[in-house]
Amino acid sequence: MKFLVINGPNLNMLGIREPNIYGKTSYSDLLKMIDDWSKENDIEVECFQSNHEGAIVDKIQEAYGVCDGIAINPAAYTHTSVAILDALKAAGLPAVEIHISDINEREQFRHVSYAGKACFDHVIGKGLDGYIIALDMLKKTVHK
Ligand code: DQA
Repeated sequence: MKFLVINGPNLNMLGIREPNIYGKTSYSDLLKMIDDWSKENDIEVECFQSNHEGAIVDKIQEAYGVCDGIAINPAAYTHTSVAILDALKAAGLPAVEIHISDINEREQFRHVSYAGKACFDHVIGKGLDGYIIALDMLKKTVHK
């Protein structure tokens, strides 16, 4: 079994970026948390971060036939990208949407999620623990 964790733009700046919203934990700490989960659960997890919409679309397409599930925080592309929505639908893999902050409690433009429409579940406003919650959800959903 293999899961893919995708992080969109500026999430590589975790810990530095608006710590009042996203916390003080760094992106490399997040990678360590995910690596620990991977080892504890004996499930391979690949992490991918990009600031580029097309690179995220490419990565989702490449996951087809290779990965068993996707946990995705599309960051700002959540609210704009039909291309990421279509890629998730095209690959057809079980996917969980993650947002560190509660997008529904923030500006109006963050209330719309395109990518979320292709996800079977959503973890919103749980901080970095949301990634672990999403991986647990994928594990429960994907039986192999
Ligand atoms: C985010 C919320 C988005 O609105 C924002 O653009 C991000 C991060 C979150 O994890 O809370 O970059 O996806």
